[in-house]
Amino acid sequence: MKRAQQHAIWGRRGTFILAATGSAVGLGNIWKFPYIVGENGGGAFVLMYLLCICLIGLPVMAAEVLLGRRGRANPIMAVGEVVRESRSSKAWGLIGWAGVVAGFIILSYYSVIAGWTLEYVTTAARGGFAGIDGHTASATFNALLGDVSKLVRWQTAFLCMTALIIMFGVTRGLETAVRILMPLLFVLLVLLLLYSAYAGDFLAGLRFLFSFRISDLSLEGLSLALGHAFFTLSLGMGAIMAYGSYMPHNTSILKTVITVGCLDTLVALMAGMVIFPIVFATPGVEPGGGPGLLFETLPIVFGGMPVGTIVGAVFFLLITLAAWSSNISLLEPIVAYLTENFRFHRLSASLLIIFLAWLLGLTTVYSLNHWQGMNMVAGMTPFDFSQFLTEQVLLPLGALAMAVYVGWFMKKAPLRREMKLDATHWFGRWYTILRYVSPVLILVVFLLGLFDKFAG
Ligand code: PHE
Repeated sequence: MKRAQQHAIWGRRGTFILAATGSAVGLGNIWKFPYIVGENGGGAFVLMYLLCICLIGLPVMAAEVLLGRRGRANPIMAVGEVVRESRSSKAWGLIGWAGVVAGFIILSYYSVIAGWTLEYVTTAARGGFAGIDGHTASATFNALLGDVSKLVRWQTAFLCMTALIIMFGVTRGLETAVRILMPLLFVLLVLLLLYSAYAGDFLAGLRFLFSFRISDLSLEGLSLALGHAFFTLSLGMGAIMAYGSYMPHNTSILKTVITVGCLDTLVALMAGMVIFPIVFATPGVEPGGGPGLLFETLPIVFGGMPVGTIVGAVFFLLITLAAWSSNISLLEPIVAYLTENFRFHRLSASLLIIFLAWLLGLTTVYSLNHWQGMNMVAGMTPFDFSQFLTEQVLLPLGALAMAVYVGWFMKKAPLRREMKLDATHWFGRWYTILRYVSPVLILVVFLLGLFDKFAG
């Protein structure tokens, strides 16, 4: 394949794991996972989530990496290449497009939310949370959501930070960034965990996360768990496919994917183990605080701690770094497409896309304040709609298409060649799950979720 010469390959072993983990670990793990666990009954949700990761997330992730590595190009061209090789219908090429479109929409709102974390780093570092109570914490958060110019400023800053890395290219920009960011993130998380074990009600936190009642299992929880499994593993958006396309041939796909899945889950559970013990040790603070858990609840906690200024700033810095490496992976596939297909320079491609994402992101910014009561579809604001469209529609459908395509339509020979480093029985297991289990589960949960949303 001629394109393989132009397309970059990670410079060092293990970079794929770092980069994919950087993409996977983000706001989804530290902001979203704890609050949806809190809202959906703790352990019951964790169990459904783990099942979704194992039976759907990991098999689909392997399929996505495989498509990228086989096609050795950006997601749109990689899928096109594999489809040509297998002589399948060109319609499958939509998988690449759906991913890149979903990725772009997510980039637009992800940058806005990540902007909140930047604001919170600065507030925490200035000692702005000292002695804060529940009322003031909510008021501070709501004031931020109501302040369009502040939101836009942070959104802009965050998008520029993202473009800065992508501009420098795959090995100089991306590879260097994840090699520094990921270990740093892990160290910060471990420090916070130690603090939480020391100062929080650790047992109550663990009990909340890992024990469950059957009655807490719900349809809505299941659909959320599935959507979250895709979101947290960055699946169906071209991000993992793009990173997979830079993966050297002598790396085992299954082993790598399992490592990334374990690291991502570990970080989500660790984030839960940092947050819940602190929440339980603080009177008047509830675990079911919803999306505000991180931004309204934790400042109260940090504000009441002896070293809260430092712990709070470190905590929000951790989330910013995690969100940064995820945002980078949302920008990379589109920039790679523009440079490989239209010969754009990386710099101009990055600037063009962050500008467009910035524009679309303004609909999210306005949904938080002036358009709060707007009913775009089914009572959703543009922000809710973007989230719904990507997380509950495009991602499951993209993942379904990938599982069906790789499982049923891709020729066995190239498939085997990509998976040659994996033992036959592992390959067999993966192939069976991908063909029979994942698609059925995705479809069922996807339809149940739609039913729950529109008819429930
Ligand atoms: N996985 C990231 C998170 O959990 C979000 C993300 C989705 C990043 C898709 C890249 C692509 O926050």
